[in-house]
Amino acid sequence: MHKLITLDDRSDFLLYREGSGKTIEIFDIAVNTERRKGKGRQLVNLLFANVPQGTKRVWAITRADNFVAQQFYEELRFRSIPLRDFYGEGGVDAVMYVRDLESQA
Ligand SMILES: CC(C)(COP(=O)(O)OP(=O)(O)OC[C@H]1O[C@@H](n2cnc3c(N)ncnc32)[C@H](O)[C@@H]1OP(=O)(O)O)[C@@H](O)C(=O)NCCC(=O)NCCS
Repeated sequence: MHKLITLDDRSDFLLYREGSGKTIEIFDIAVNTERRKGKGRQLVNLLFANVPQGTKRVWAITRADNFVAQQFYEELRFRSIPLRDFYGEGGVDAVMYVRDLESQA
């Protein structure tokens, strides 16, 4: 089941779901009001504050050509794992971003 976190304007949202192995997947995140104002960071921090007890990792997958998303996740201290030939017939590369939540392990 997907769960939604929004800011005051609901077009700024983070959609997530529980994965296997005590993980949470960020399924989609978008800031559509004003970017570079810390709203994306705020959404991820709200997620960290609301994950179920015992969650070990939060992860997301993004296209390898989405450089903004990559800068964003790296700034938020996610580590990257390259996923070659991930999307579709054409084999578009992707990157998995993982943040370990050690304090909750
Ligand atoms: C990715 C996204 C959610 C970031 O939201 P945001 O509110 O603009 O991000 P923040 O202001 O919280 O940025 C936090 C940090 O991420 C990095 N960052 C964010 N946007 C960046 C950009 N355009 N260029 C470089 N670094 C960027 C910066 O380090 C930034 O900190 P700083 O502004 O203090 O330098 C937003 O760009 C977006 O909606 N993109 C389209 C949807 C998308 O690609 N989603 C991700 C894949 S599902």
